Formats: sequence, C-alpha cells, structure tokens
Amino acid sequence: MLKKQRILVAGGAGYVGSRLVPALIKDGHQVTVLDLLWFGNTLPKKVKVIKKDIFDIDTNTLKGFDQVIFLAGLSNDPMAEYSPAQNFICNSAAPAYLAYIAKVAGVKRFIYACSGSVYGFTEDKILDENSVAESSFPYGISKRKGEFGVMYLQDETFSVISLRKGTISGWSPRMRFDLIVNTMYMKAQTLGKVSINNPAIWRPILAIEDAVAAYLKAVATPLSVSGVFNISSGNFTVGAVGEKVREHFKQKHGRSLVVEVKNIPDKRNYKISTKKAQKILGFKPTGTIESILKELDERVGADFNFADEKHYNILVFKKTFKNRRSKN
Ligand SMILES: NC(=O)c1ccc[n+]([C@@H]2O[C@H](COP(=O)([O-])OP(=O)(O)OC[C@H]3O[C@@H](n4cnc5c(N)ncnc54)[C@H](O)[C@@H]3O)[C@@H](O)[C@H]2O)c1
Repeated sequence: MLKKQRILVAGGAGYVGSRLVPALIKDGHQVTVLDLLWFGNTLPKKVKVIKKDIFDIDTNTLKGFDQVIFLAGLSNDPMAEYSPAQNFICNSAAPAYLAYIAKVAGVKRFIYACSGSVYGFTEDKILDENSVAESSFPYGISKRKGEFGVMYLQDETFSVISLRKGTISGWSPRMRFDLIVNTMYMKAQTLGKVSINNPAIWRPILAIEDAVAAYLKAVATPLSVSGVFNISSGNFTVGAVGEKVREHFKQKHGRSLVVEVKNIPDKRNYKISTKKAQKILGFKPTGTIESILKELDERVGADFNFADEKHYNILVFKKTFKNRRSKN
C-alpha cells in the first residue's frame, strides 16, 4: 500500500475532484489541483490550485509529484457534440500530453478518468475489460483515444491505470444536475415528475462515494499494478432507475410523481462487470440508487437553487466557448 503520495489532480475542481481531493487529503496525501475552473472552485481553501490549461504546463510543473490523476476534459456528450474539435483536443490529446510530460518528469503513476461510454451500444451481455470497446459518437471515441494515449506510455517505470466509470451520481460541492440520477432528482423536486428518456437502455450507475473509493484504491495500489478497470456500483435500466426515484419520493416525501416515459433512441447501452477491479484493486462498491437519493435529500433538498446554470455543463460550456461550435 502506497502512503502519503504527492499528487497533482488535473480537473480536480470539477464534480468528481471536489469530492476526491478532500478524501485524498484525509488519507494523508499532499494534493495540488490544476484546473481552468470552468465551473468555479468549491475546494477547501487550503488546497493549492494552479489555474492553467494542461497544454500550458510542462515537465517543470510536474517535477516532485509521485502521481498524476486526470479528471479534466469535456465530461459529457452534449459538450462533445457542441465542439467535437475541442472534445478531441481536451479528451484525447490532453491526457496523452499530460501522461507524457508526467513520465518525463519522473512521476511514477498516472490515473486516467475513462468512461464506460467507450463500450457504445451493445447487446444484452455483461462487458469486461477484454470486451470490444467501440463507440460511434465523439465523447466515447475521444475517451477511448485518450485511454490509448495514456496506456501506450505504461512500462516498468510508469504505472498507468484507466478507470472506465459508469455514470456517476450523488452529491458534490460542485454539483451537476446533468447526470442520470441527479437529473431525475432535480426534475422530481422542481417539476414533480420523473422523466425516463428510454426505459430499456442499460447503464452502469456509479455512486460518487464509490467513484472516490476507486481512485483512493488506485492511488494506494502497488506500482507494479497497471491496467484498465471497469468501475460501477451496479447495472440498471433507465426505467428501473426512474422507478426507484418514483418510489423514493412516494415513501420519503409522500409525493406522487408524474411518470413521463419517452422513447428517445440512445447511442449507449451497456452493462459492465467490475470483477477485475474488485480482485486487483480491492474495489468494493457499496452505493445504490437509494443511497444516492438519500445523500441528495441530505445535501441538496428541495430549496436548492436548481436553476443556476453552473450545475449544467453544457450551459457553461456554450457560454465560455461561444465561438468554438464546430461546423460539422
Ligand atoms: N461524471 C461522470 O459521470 C463521469 C463518468 C465517467 C467518466 N467521467 C470522466 O471523469 C472526469 C471528471 O468528470 P467530472 O464529472 O468531475 O467533470 P467536470 O466537468 O465536473 O470537471 C472537469 C474539470 O476539468 C477542468 N478542465 C477541463 N479541461 C481542462 C484543461 N484542458 N486544463 C485544465 N482543466 C481543465 C474543468 O475546469 C472542470 O473543473 C472527466 O474526464 C469525465 O470525462 C465522468
């Protein structure tokens, strides 16, 4: 078990990073964040934050770090489709460049935030890390290319771990309401309805506390470990998630939600196995849809300012990059 690592977290002020960074510090690690702060900064004041683009740093910035975690880039389909060009720069080239300069600077491990999106649309089977990972849309392709770029650098001096995570939900100080359970929770609170885009589609759901636990395990695992790992709390159909949200509001809030079922075609449909992460990293997911909803009740509640656009990545992104819309 590796203890007290000096870690640079690129994209550490985002949704995942704002939960992960305090947890890394609590585990005794020394953490610096590199982030463009597109969505602001809700990290504890004591965290050192370098406000820079990944492409504006070089090996000098990375000297002295033991590990680098990549949580940056464009983190959903609408952003990737708004600007495919920037998507491939931030999601494929940026992690490859960061891993390259980390290795040159003598960093011992690189951890990459990959996504289950790389599996694309699959038939009814449970996918492991040896399954074909092919998608046909900018976000999924770019995450796969980013993974190739970082894994390519792995050798006996440089451990590389890619975590292919399911769709995360739950509370973070930097809150997002464009993630499946969080979105359903927001609509239940604000509109009294649960919206199900396509009830038959399968998604691995990842409670944010399990996402954080996976990174903590990856950081602590011996440097001899490298590889790709699926990470999720469990596989659910979108319809089953919606049903759990409906049931939660009935049981815990005494509210009967209007159920709106659409049949919007989806480019993603996949179930993943996390056996490899359980065996090698010791990852033991404990989150459930119910635990996510309980956390949202405790930390978000009904009076939250759901309308603030900073909680919806695409709204901030369109404003920040209004001239970057790709013409394709
Ligand atoms: N949230 C999910 O459900 C999920 C699931 C699977 C994988 N992922 C991946 O995990 C990572 C973190 O997701 P998140 O939800 O925390 O995203 P987020 O959008 O909340 O945060 C991303 C952060 O990266 C920063 N950033 C982006 N490009 C940068 C650059 N070039 N240089 C410096 N900083 C930059 C942004 O300012 C932002 O703070 C992303 O790479 C995403 O693709 C997320």
